[in-house]
Amino acid sequence: MVGSDIIVFNFSGFCGLNMASAKSNNTNPTVLSRQLLKWFDANRRDLAWRTAPGVARDPYRVWLSEVMLQQTQVVSVTPYYLKFLKNWPNVHKLASADDDAVMVAWAGLGYYARARNLLKCARQVSLELDGVFPDSEAGLLALPGIGPYSAAAIAAIAFGRKAAAVDGNVVRVVARLDGLDRPPAKLKAKVGARVMGMVPKARPGDFAEACMELGATVCRARNPACDICPWLKSCHAGASATPEMWPVRSPKTPKPHRKGWVFWVERDGGEGVLLVRRPPKGLLGGMMGFPTTEWSTQAGTQSRNDEGLRLASQTLPKAGDWQVLEARIKHTFTHFHLELGVVRGRWAGAWRADEVPGGDWYRANELEKQALPSVMRKVFAVAQKQG
Ligand code: ADE
Repeated sequence: MVGSDIIVFNFSGFCGLNMASAKSNNTNPTVLSRQLLKWFDANRRDLAWRTAPGVARDPYRVWLSEVMLQQTQVVSVTPYYLKFLKNWPNVHKLASADDDAVMVAWAGLGYYARARNLLKCARQVSLELDGVFPDSEAGLLALPGIGPYSAAAIAAIAFGRKAAAVDGNVVRVVARLDGLDRPPAKLKAKVGARVMGMVPKARPGDFAEACMELGATVCRARNPACDICPWLKSCHAGASATPEMWPVRSPKTPKPHRKGWVFWVERDGGEGVLLVRRPPKGLLGGMMGFPTTEWSTQAGTQSRNDEGLRLASQTLPKAGDWQVLEARIKHTFTHFHLELGVVRGRWAGAWRADEVPGGDWYRANELEKQALPSVMRKVFAVAQKQG
């Protein structure tokens, strides 16, 4: 062993190099805040929604980007953000947009309730607040689709309010900094208070984005780049050989598997394919999709073709010529895995709008323009291929 390096076991039982000599142990919030902002000034990414340092931000753009960035990464959001801004450059324009046009522009970004709430929020701000976003965390939190994280981020970035924007990335950064030994879900309050203590009066928005930036580019979940971190000398995890072990993980509950059937129904004369609008509440609520059965965790569903044929006739008794396709659709949602069998059929008789609630016919080229959720796009691709 060289010099004064000592192998130690820390309280989590990891084996690490004791870097106490390299660690300044300065956990003072003002010092940490200054170090982080200095690093951010030199390393901030030039993202589509950011302005040059010191230039005020348009609350509409901040809000739009923060809603899109909920549960979605910067690279995926950027083209959508630019498209929305081009189509609807301010909150009044978005408020008067056609619902379907907004859903189509959102298609592919996922979590579609966000798009519906985005429109609701735009309409509320445009019609009830004269187009002016509230400038406080509490005021923002009262709007549709704005949760505690987004309210804090918008308040800080757009309005210079002192607010602690704490998402999963920030929890990870602080859990490592302070060596917090509990799973993320149990750390929100503690991390919120710690971050709040560091938010500088002068630059709360930059500080919020600096925390996000550090989590996204340096203090990554896997393979953190501790050697370039402005907080290395104060960081508990950075002093260990295994910084990625923080935050500690709660035991994973495996995602359940659900199964069901989806029905691709064509109308005689090639006039189109049947789509239905899904019920407004719940998963994919209000989205267009091909008719399906319930998605069930019950064993037995979808395992036999005769079951698919029986459920097809039961769900859409006016259609016939049913045929089960070979391919299976697999899709993973946040909370479960889904497997769908596809049954293809033909609508022979006349069509009355009330026969399938929320149903209508779309030609293939129109289908492409519909705001179909990803799982339904997979169905479309399979049916086209086997057509
Ligand atoms: N994630 C959430 N908000 C963000 C922002 N303003 N910049 C970069 N990443 C983000």
